[in-house]
Amino acid sequence: MNDRLFSLAGRKALVTGASGGLGRNFASVLAAAGATVVLTGRRTKQLEQAAEDIHSAGGEASVIPMDVTDESAVAKAFDYAENIFGCVDVLVNNSGIAHGELALDIKSNDWDRVIDTNLRGAWLVAREAGKRLVGAGQPGSIINIASILGLRALKAVTPYAVSKAGLVQMTRTLALEWAQHHIRVNAIAPGFIMTDMNRAFFGTESGARMIKRIPMRRVGDPGELDGVLLLLASDASSYMTGSIITVDGGHLQSTL
Ligand SMILES: NC(=O)c1ccc[n+]([C@@H]2O[C@H](COP(=O)([O-])OP(=O)(O)OC[C@H]3O[C@@H](n4cnc5c(N)ncnc54)[C@H](OP(=O)(O)O)[C@@H]3O)[C@@H](O)[C@H]2O)c1
Repeated sequence: MNDRLFSLAGRKALVTGASGGLGRNFASVLAAAGATVVLTGRRTKQLEQAAEDIHSAGGEASVIPMDVTDESAVAKAFDYAENIFGCVDVLVNNSGIAHGELALDIKSNDWDRVIDTNLRGAWLVAREAGKRLVGAGQPGSIINIASILGLRALKAVTPYAVSKAGLVQMTRTLALEWAQHHIRVNAIAPGFIMTDMNRAFFGTESGARMIKRIPMRRVGDPGELDGVLLLLASDASSYMTGSIITVDGGHLQSTL
């Protein structure tokens, strides 16, 4: 196997929601593979700590606060990245929030919050990255973090599931439009991976029942997304675009 197949040496990556959970892990995996990484999110202190860990491991990282729902903050973050290292050519569109409530009880502001962050936010960031890559005539890779809930239905997650289904379709349409610009757009659709988003849930009885329905009988660890992230970010996936890759212990094949 060619050692350099998954190398990201010389790449400039931006990760949204790098302050915790999957995003923090994605940022360190990209840095370890040789990319210079900009960590973004709203919680500056956590971003600084994550960047510090990357520096200690010998990687290159910097921090810029960015709320994905704020169009001007998105432009500012890309300006910042461009000033320090040039055009972002690997984007991990990871920021996301969940809201657990049955459809009849959901308030419209909760609906808006989830769609604004998970779908409109991901679009604002992808559009910014795409515009700049096209302007610079450079190739790039965009990785959207979707969910198996964007592919199958579950009760009490309507806005989240709708936002992730939208992100899956956005992955396909951007892939179609941007292939001519050598910008690949793919998505990872994780099943249940233990992070702050769901830790409390998996401590409950319904969480335990959910785990029994996963064919591998366990939730995933964030590190179990490392391989697919490196595949999609690097030239190892040079002929892949518009792909939605599930990483879910087989969950999609059984009852959610
Ligand atoms: N864990 C799972 O089982 C699972 C499964 C499928 C898909 N996913 C997806 O994976 C992604 C990461 O989830 P996670 O499990 O790591 O959850 P998490 O630990 O709650 O992290 C979510 C991240 O999103 C960021 N974020 C939220 N709102 C934001 C905003 N308005 N602007 C910028 N950043 C924002 C947060 O950063 P700040 O608070 O600092 O802004 C945080 O770092 C999400 O898109 C989620 O839907 C997770």
